[in-house]
Amino acid sequence: MKALVLAGGSGTRLRPITHTSAKQLVPVANKPVLFYGLEAIAAAGITEVGIVVGATAAEIRRAVGDGDRFGLRITYIEQAAPLGLAHAVLVARDFLGDDDFVMYLGDNFIIGGITALVDGFRADRPDARILLTRVADPSAFGVAELDDKGRVLSLEEKPAEPRSDLALVGVYLFTSVIHEAVRSVVPSARGELEITDALQRLIDTGHDVRSTLITGYWKDTGNVTDLLEVNRTVLETFEPRIDGTVDAASELIGRVVVEPGAVVTGCRIVGPAVIGAGSTLTGCYVGPYTSIAENCRINDSEIEYSIVLGGARIDGVRRVEASLIGREAVVTPAPTVPAAHRLILGDHSKVQIHA
Ligand code: DAU
Repeated sequence: MKALVLAGGSGTRLRPITHTSAKQLVPVANKPVLFYGLEAIAAAGITEVGIVVGATAAEIRRAVGDGDRFGLRITYIEQAAPLGLAHAVLVARDFLGDDDFVMYLGDNFIIGGITALVDGFRADRPDARILLTRVADPSAFGVAELDDKGRVLSLEEKPAEPRSDLALVGVYLFTSVIHEAVRSVVPSARGELEITDALQRLIDTGHDVRSTLITGYWKDTGNVTDLLEVNRTVLETFEPRIDGTVDAASELIGRVVVEPGAVVTGCRIVGPAVIGAGSTLTGCYVGPYTSIAENCRINDSEIEYSIVLGGARIDGVRRVEASLIGREAVVTPAPTVPAAHRLILGDHSKVQIHA
């Protein structure tokens, strides 16, 4: 069995973070979302992985490399434009051959991995298996309609009037019959070759398409709330570890990870929290469910339930909560007189000010 990981496309929902970075590399607990997917694939006993890459190919290659550190053999497959998930299967035809494969959308996060699912597929080998989860906003997803025995009746991509609240999760298991189905698909109203149309084709031609309902799923549906929540869930699993330098005046409580080269001086850190390699924290309070990436500088500030990306600086600010702070961003107090906010915000930024 092989894996096909989709890491092309362009991110719009996590703007402005994805203006400058591939959406599959947005970090959760200081690790790119994509890496959790690759680890889940390796844990399921799959070693041959094709990664579909597009405009951000160089960045993805730099982050993932040859796959050695995941125990994977990685082949990069160039997709000239993000023409749809079924198009990604088309361009991967040579890599996939006639093998069964799991298709994994690189911006999806599945708590608990995919091992049981892959094992189940190896054992019962239906023509295809899809994963579904109940969501509040089904029109943002592919939506499935099931019969009373749980068989898939129909699939629709981002319907205006969803027939159920069962959204397609970005993990699909296929046998080689999918190749003929993707060849028959024509562009949808949004101009993409939809994998939902290929699956519908399988259903219409009498193939065995089954579904599994899961919980514990995250997808970038636009608000940072979801990202913070999945960050919380992952941090909960951390064991405390101090590989950096923490002075005697600092107090670390609970699941706190201090990565190598981080320097913590006169701080109170209440876990779960992670302080990235090379970051310097001085005179700070860091509250639960906070991920601070590498090479940040945080001084005389309070931060809780937030994600801070690499190289950011926060100085003299209290208090930052439920926030996503981008790479090299700088947060400092405004001068006290006049009492005014001073903002330099990138396109699509969102700011909530305690006025
Ligand atoms: O995440 C689940 C949803 O993913 C499903 O419910 C939908 O049925 C499915 O179509 C897909 O919807 P999105 O519109 O959210 O897909 P997105 O454009 O975000 O692409 C998903 C991943 O695949 C992302 O990592 C980018 C990559 N991709 C996407 C396209 C369209 C490619 O590599 N090539 C592409 O052509």
